[in-house]
Amino acid sequence: MADNGYHEPVMFGETMDALRIHRGGAYVDGTLGGGGHAAGILARLAGTGRLIGIDKDAEALASAGERLAGASNLTLIHGDFHGARALLAERGVSELDGALLDLGVSSHQLDTPARGFSYREDAPLDMRMDASQGETAADLIARMGERELARVFYEYGEENWGARIAREIVARRERSAILTTFDLVACVDAAVPKPVRMRDTGHPARRVFQALRIAVNDELAPLERALESIAGMLKPGGRLCVITFHSLEDRIVKRTFARLRKPCVCPPSFPVCVCGREPSLTGYGAKPVSPSDEELERNPRSRSARLRAAEKI
Ligand SMILES: C[S@@+](CC[C@H](N)C(=O)[O-])C[C@H]1O[C@@H](n2cnc3c(N)ncnc32)[C@H](O)[C@@H]1O
Repeated sequence: MADNGYHEPVMFGETMDALRIHRGGAYVDGTLGGGGHAAGILARLAGTGRLIGIDKDAEALASAGERLAGASNLTLIHGDFHGARALLAERGVSELDGALLDLGVSSHQLDTPARGFSYREDAPLDMRMDASQGETAADLIARMGERELARVFYEYGEENWGARIAREIVARRERSAILTTFDLVACVDAAVPKPVRMRDTGHPARRVFQALRIAVNDELAPLERALESIAGMLKPGGRLCVITFHSLEDRIVKRTFARLRKPCVCPPSFPVCVCGREPSLTGYGAKPVSPSDEELERNPRSRSARLRAAEKI
């Protein structure tokens, strides 16, 4: 199971500890990527139990499949973890001892210019994790109106200059289509005043790229239901671990876990609960875990990662 250099798994030890893998158990890795975390799960299963690895990206599945070849207890699925329950049911799995979601894009996706995720390389504006279907970022930019683009930039990128960037995109696309990553970077450069760009500690286009990627891959809207559905498949004591990379997804994970820990909707003034909603998660993992200083130094891309874990009652 040699490292294929595809992606450095973030908070590897912390994630393995939180998953509390035991031999004979059934686990799902809903974001297989390069298979780094999956290799750790398989090592702890030591040939027993089962691991189901899911990824939207066929390249990721092929790479992880190569790395993990020989593990007879591994099943690979090309699909979306938002539909994990149905995908697992088709393979006869209805209960899990643990599940991992390491959200977002892999280093391999970011570092492959042709995928269009990076503002640092000129390439077709694609950004689809599943390159076999759906609209590309260029399609989306060509189709959306100015207000919708501005909303996407604001909601998914927390970009304060979103309205101006959207206006610039709409004006430019009337002259010529916006088809490449550098076409989009040029729109950001034209819309955001130079002093503001100079003050920015990161690349000025990063928030717009994040926002488009989230929109192209529909990363946020179905997340809450997916978490609830996967948590619902856990056996008592089973754990769900989620690694997030930005505050928008972290907030959804935090709120969903909090609601499943304390679902009661009775007003605080009620002496006893009358709504009857029972918690499904224990209090375990209420605080998020961040990468250690050593990891931050070794892998600066782990900077914004947060690990949140939950345990089924
Ligand atoms: C951060 S990487 C995972 C890295 C992996 N943990 C490892 O150790 O190599 C995220 C992966 O999840 C995949 N992904 C993101 N959202 C997904 C979804 N909704 N369904 C399935 N795969 C998804 C991406 O294609 C990418 O390969």
